[in-house]
Amino acid sequence: MDRIDQLRQALHAHNHRYYVDNAPTISDQEFDALMHELQSLEAAHPERFDPNSPTQRVGSDLGHDFQQVAHRYPMLSLGNTYNRADVSEWYARVQSGLGGTPFAVCCELKFDGLSIALTYEHGRLTQALTRGDGVKGDDVTANVRTIASIPLVLPEGGDYPASFEIRGEVLMPWRSFEALNAERERREEPLFANPRNAASGTLKSRNSAVVAERRLDAYLYYLLGEDIPHQSHYDNMMRCREWGFRVSDAMTMAHSLDDIYAFIDHWDEGRRHLPVATDGIVLKVDSIAQQEQLGYTAKSPRWAIAYKFQAERAATPLTAVTFQVGRTGAVTPVANMQPVLLSGTIVKRASLHNADIISSLDLHIGDTVLVEKAGEIISQIVGVDTTQRTAALGPAVTFATHCPECGTPLVRYDGEAAHYCPNDATCPPQIKGRIEHFITRDTMNIDSIGPETIDAWYAAGLITDVADLYDLRLVQRTDGLYIVRQRASETAQSLFFGAPLDDDAPALATTPKAGQNYIAGIARSLTVPFDRVLYALGIRFVGKVAAKSLAHHFRDMAHLRAAREEDLLSVEGIGSTIAESVLRYFADSRNTTRIDRLAAAGVQMQMPETAQRSSVLTGERIVISGTFTRHSREAYKTLIEAHGGKNVSSISAKTTFVLAGENMGPAKREKAERLGVPLVSEDDFLARIGEA
Ligand code: IVH
Repeated sequence: MDRIDQLRQALHAHNHRYYVDNAPTISDQEFDALMHELQSLEAAHPERFDPNSPTQRVGSDLGHDFQQVAHRYPMLSLGNTYNRADVSEWYARVQSGLGGTPFAVCCELKFDGLSIALTYEHGRLTQALTRGDGVKGDDVTANVRTIASIPLVLPEGGDYPASFEIRGEVLMPWRSFEALNAERERREEPLFANPRNAASGTLKSRNSAVVAERRLDAYLYYLLGEDIPHQSHYDNMMRCREWGFRVSDAMTMAHSLDDIYAFIDHWDEGRRHLPVATDGIVLKVDSIAQQEQLGYTAKSPRWAIAYKFQAERAATPLTAVTFQVGRTGAVTPVANMQPVLLSGTIVKRASLHNADIISSLDLHIGDTVLVEKAGEIISQIVGVDTTQRTAALGPAVTFATHCPECGTPLVRYDGEAAHYCPNDATCPPQIKGRIEHFITRDTMNIDSIGPETIDAWYAAGLITDVADLYDLRLVQRTDGLYIVRQRASETAQSLFFGAPLDDDAPALATTPKAGQNYIAGIARSLTVPFDRVLYALGIRFVGKVAAKSLAHHFRDMAHLRAAREEDLLSVEGIGSTIAESVLRYFADSRNTTRIDRLAAAGVQMQMPETAQRSSVLTGERIVISGTFTRHSREAYKTLIEAHGGKNVSSISAKTTFVLAGENMGPAKREKAERLGVPLVSEDDFLARIGEA
C-alpha cells in the first residue's frame, strides 16, 4: 500500500469516527494536514483519480444534470396512520395475515428528509438515486458523495455482500438548517420552510460544492440485496452499523401493542431533543420471511406502516400586523400575536408572506388565529377560528399603502406577489441593508463591524453608502478618540488617522481598540477579490455564483460596465433577468459614482492577471464543450489563457481545436466534424500543457 492508499484509508476511518461515532481521535488540524497531503499527492498523480477518494467530499462546481436511472427494487411508500386505533387495526391485520404465529415489530423513528437508495459494489459506493416516481430516480451520486456520514468505501475485508442496496433518509440537521436560513435571511433570499425542503433543494442542486457546504446528514434504515446476512431486519441494521453506516440508536423491538404505544409515547416527547427532524415513527415486521408472507399492496408493503405525530398547533389573538422593509425594498407583513407556547418555544410573531395570503385568510385584528410550526421552526398562521369572532372584532387587515419607514407609496410589479418601497436612495432599512450585505463574510468580510455598528454610524450621519466606509478615519480630540468621515483628499497619508476636524462634523466617540479594529477591517477588505466585490455591490439578482461568472468572463469592472446585453447573455449561467438588472444598475449614475469612489479607495476592480505558465497554446483558438472530471470549466479557461491560448465561444473554421469533455452536444460535434476541427480529450489536453 503506498502513501496515497494509506492516506485514503486513514481519512475514511477518521471521517467515520468524527461524523458517525462523534468520537474523533485526531484534531481538526491534524485531519486537515492529512487531507492536504492527499490533495497534493493526487494533484501530482492524476492517473490515481478515484471518485471515492476522501478529497472528493468537497464537491465540484461542474453542473450536474441528473440522469434518470431505474431502481433495482421499486421504492414504495408507507401507509400512514394518525392514531392508536389505526395502529391497532394494522397490528390485527398483521396478526391474521400470519395466521396467528408470533411476530416481532421493529419500531423506528420516521426521519423527515428525502429517501435515498445507495448501491455498493465490492464495498464501494457506486450509485445514489432519489426516490423519483418509485420506479426511476435521479442519479445524485456526485452530490451524495459530499455527505460526510455516508461511507464512500467500506473497510477492506468486511463481511458485507459483494453487491447490495441500502436505503435511508438524507436530512439537514437542525443546526445546519438554522444557520442556512439565518444566512438566507441576511441576504434576503427566500427561507426554506423546514429542513426537509432544505435537504431536498440541496440534494437536487446542480453544484455539488454547494451541497458539501450545506452539511447534510443521512440515516440508513433498510438493506436489500440477493445475499443479505440475516433473516431479521433489526439484525441486518446492526450489521450495517458495523460496516460503517449511520443507523439510528432509537430502533427497538416490540412484542406487543403496548410495547409499540410505549415507543410512540416516548418519542412523541423525546424527538424534541433530536438533532434532526422526525415526523412520526415507522413500524416494521422484523422477520424477512414474515415480511414476504405478508407481501405488498400496489403502493406499499403490508408489513410496515408509518404513524405520524400531530403537528403542534396553538390558538391566540392577533394584536397587530406590522410591515418590515428589507434591503431590496421588499415589504413583508408580520403578524403580532399574544405570546403563546408552541413546541417548547414562545411564539409571538409570524410572517404573513404577502398581500394574497392576508386576503385569503380574511384576517381581522382581534381574530383568534391558529399557528403551526412548519417543521417546528418557522411559525405560520394556518387559519382563523371564526367561531371565536365577537361584535368587538377589529378592522380587516389590509396591506400597507405606504412604506412604514420612509412614507413612500408602495408599488407592486406585474406578476410579483411582493410589494416594494421604490425609494432605494433614502429609505433607511434599504440603505442599512445594503451596507450590511457589503460587510458580511461572503462579501467584503469586514468582521469588525456588525449590524449594530452600522445602525449607530448611520444614525450619527457617518455613513449612508458603502463607499463612505473607506472615508472613515480616527481623530484624536482633547476629549477622546473619535471616528469621523473625511473625503480621501482631506486626509493625511495614513489610512487610520485623519486630519484635525471642526467640532460640528459628524463624529462618534470610540475606544482605541475598537477604532483600530474597525479601520483595520475596512483596510483588509481592499484585498478581497473582484468577484466578491461584485457580489458585495448588491446588484439585484446577482448572487455569489453569477458574480463569479461575470468576474471571470469580463475580468475587470471597465469591461463589465461596457458590456451590452448580448455580451452579458453570452456568459454561462446569465439569463435575461440578470442581464437586464446589470444594465439597469450601470445606467444609474448613483451606482457608477459609488463604484468610482470604491475604486479610488483601492477596492479590487479586476481579476488578478493569471501567471503565464507557458506559451504552448499561443495563437490557438480553443472552444470548450461538454463536462469535465479533472477541473471545472472556469479552470480550463484560465489554463488555456495561462498557456497563451484564447478561449472562444463558438466553433468556426478558425477554431484550432475543441477541448471536448463528456456529453458534448451532437450539434457541436457535427459542426466540428464538418469544419474539420479536431476534438481533444481532457487527458490529452492536460498532457499537452504539461499539467497531466
Ligand atoms: S422504511 C418499504 N423506515 O418515510 C419500506 N422509511 O412514508 C420503505 N422514512 O419513503 C421505507 N424514516 O422516505 C422507512 N425508519 C424509516 C423511515 C422511512 C423515514 C420515509 C421514507 C419513506 C417514507 C414513507
